[in-house]
Amino acid sequence: MTAATLPPGPSSTVLRQSLAWGFRPRPFLDNCLREFGDMFTVRLGQVGPVVMLAHPDQIKQVFTGDPEVFHAGEANVILRPSLGRHSVLLLDDAQHLSQRKLLLPPFHGERMTRYGELMRDIAERDIAGWPRGVPFRLHSHTQDVTMSIIVRAVFGVTEQARMERMRAALKEFIEWGTSPRQIAYLSLMDIDQIERNVFFKRARRKVDAAVYGEIRHARERQDLDEREDILSLLLQARHEDGSPMSDEELRDELMTLLLAGHETTATSLAWAIERLVRHPGAMERLVAEAQEGGTEYAEAVCKETLRMRPVLPIVARLLKREVEIGGRLLPEGVLVAPNIYLVQHREDVYPQARRFRPERFLEGQGGTYSWIPFGGGIRRCIGASFALYEMRIVLQAIARSVQLRPAQPRSEPVGRRSITLTPRFGARVVAA
Ligand code: HEM
Repeated sequence: MTAATLPPGPSSTVLRQSLAWGFRPRPFLDNCLREFGDMFTVRLGQVGPVVMLAHPDQIKQVFTGDPEVFHAGEANVILRPSLGRHSVLLLDDAQHLSQRKLLLPPFHGERMTRYGELMRDIAERDIAGWPRGVPFRLHSHTQDVTMSIIVRAVFGVTEQARMERMRAALKEFIEWGTSPRQIAYLSLMDIDQIERNVFFKRARRKVDAAVYGEIRHARERQDLDEREDILSLLLQARHEDGSPMSDEELRDELMTLLLAGHETTATSLAWAIERLVRHPGAMERLVAEAQEGGTEYAEAVCKETLRMRPVLPIVARLLKREVEIGGRLLPEGVLVAPNIYLVQHREDVYPQARRFRPERFLEGQGGTYSWIPFGGGIRRCIGASFALYEMRIVLQAIARSVQLRPAQPRSEPVGRRSITLTPRFGARVVAA
């Protein structure tokens, strides 16, 4: 067999490619696809060469491949300083499976529906406070809503003041880690240096104190088996050897759920509104359905938003040995990345891919390896049903309560907030 090689890619310097990936990811990826086809290599500062995959068959090979060969945990190492080394996102092989098994039960479909009322209440209360007749950033509101929802789902009903402190600590930590100044500063360090960095440790301390405080409180409760919150369920969960989760493990998994579950959903909701206010036909249909009590079109809106404006443009796996993908032997030690953005814009799967048309999902477009906003295989997002359900409930609450128009007619460009792609101006709208 021929030797393992990297597919071709742009010849510009690592710095230029990193800047293009950081600041203009979509045009950068579109150009690469045009020039090099469905599989190409980009070179990025902190992580080295990344082989991007834009064809559903290649993506299928990754998602159905041997998890011992395709390591996601190692590929996600950049998240370790925030989430901690026990986080399910950072583990591989047996450890990953065991931790994932402990986390899955709270996210089972039927359990989701019990959160519905809570989601609706939180959304309606927030919407009632929106300004009327003047432009505002809707993204800030979806962030507040999804933060309140995830904090309540994770910790259940506890003392108001403690939850307030938790929300404030989380918000501060996220703001700290996503400010462009901090990102530039952190990008000069490797992971170990970030973990040891005194400013980073200070930023984490407050949120850690709040999370450990909740774990301590929960351990003292007598009614754990009657409670429905995720922390109570995790406290009762057992590893295969019968041992309970340690405080450190609980901290890392709770942080994972709080951070993974909040920002992604808030941004997807902001994008959904950013699209809808510029497509009055779709908005009208959404409103009419919400008033009649249906759900089908709202679900299609969520899917179409996640297709056109995926919050995470890629998922990544580190190759633990040479692997053949799409007829090419790829070397051990490189990252392969199913490209969510590119595969979800394929004209052969989604005709007129750049048009926002939720109806395509009522017509059955898309498939397991071409609609992948939640990744796939054994690493598929644990919170996918929760997120879709939450998006639908919040969108319908908005549709029933207010009339929205865009603050300016032009579509908002795609901006970046840490690893996520967000509406650059925060989805600015005017409510009537
Ligand atoms: C629209 C919202 C969301 C999006 C777009 C999203 C997207 C993703 C993606 C792309 C991955 C990586 C999958 C892979 O590597 O193949 C992931 C993993 C994960 N997500 Fe989400 N997510 C969302 C909401 C949530 C929510 C609400 C939660 C929980 C409350 C959550 C918890 C997780 C966890 C625990 C993992 C790690 C799974 C593993 O490694 O086994 N996510 N998510």
